[in-house]
Amino acid sequence: MSRSDAPIGVFDSGVGGLSVLGEIRSLLPNESLLYVADCGHIPYGEKTPEYIRQRCAVIAEFFHQQGAKALVLACNTATVAAVADLRERYPDWPIVGMEPAVKPAAAATRSGRVGVLATTGTLQSAKFAALLDRFAVDVQVVTQPCPGLVELIETGDLTSPAIRHLLRGYVEPLLAAGCDTIILGCTHYPFLKPLLHDMVPDSISLIDTGGAVARQLQRLLAQCDLLGGGPALDTRFWTSGDVEIFRNILPLLWQKSDSVRFFAL
Ligand code: DGL
Repeated sequence: MSRSDAPIGVFDSGVGGLSVLGEIRSLLPNESLLYVADCGHIPYGEKTPEYIRQRCAVIAEFFHQQGAKALVLACNTATVAAVADLRERYPDWPIVGMEPAVKPAAAATRSGRVGVLATTGTLQSAKFAALLDRFAVDVQVVTQPCPGLVELIETGDLTSPAIRHLLRGYVEPLLAAGCDTIILGCTHYPFLKPLLHDMVPDSISLIDTGGAVARQLQRLLAQCDLLGGGPALDTRFWTSGDVEIFRNILPLLWQKSDSVRFFAL
């Protein structure tokens, strides 16, 4: 197998990164994909940076051993905690991280107020503070940590009264502050877009970065002469949680026609 035919490793603390994996599959249909859902250690958003760095080191090494040609951190919380370490550890490996879409949101807002829904870990990080210093000097940014949302999404709950109530409590302060642009700064949250559209006026823009991550991956692979020519092999999923739960929830969050296989991590 040539290097360009090797798979791409993608991971998140759980099912959230499937929102990114879906964008990657749509943009790069010829690529073979591996995905790790670290469900046994969720939520990353409430863990220490050191804990997250250790988990990311274990998962990155796993993908490295699997021969992945590139690594995608499909998780904002993991990126702020660990991407710098991983790039240092694997200097020759293309690594794509992700961060809340502050730059495009600052460019898009008309009210001058942008809301950010993200995990506590992302919002408290130095990397997020640097992002605000760099791109949000002329706009007001209202941040909202969202404990509890990820845990409900992990059970496949995208519509219950409980998640609706929790989400409303997080979105209302942003609307009350006059935000016309809301950043979905955690890869789990795009799965709540239908619920959010019910909750916010049509004039509010919801911005996430899954598509941008897929495009960045494509650019990086092209630069390194690593774009795959296909056909893609079965998409393989590993979880550190319960494999049956993951298998059952996948069709709700991954409507792709790939052949899939499941494994315990
Ligand atoms: N999906 C992850 C993110 O993008 C975090 C979820 C968690 O707290 O585990 O930030």
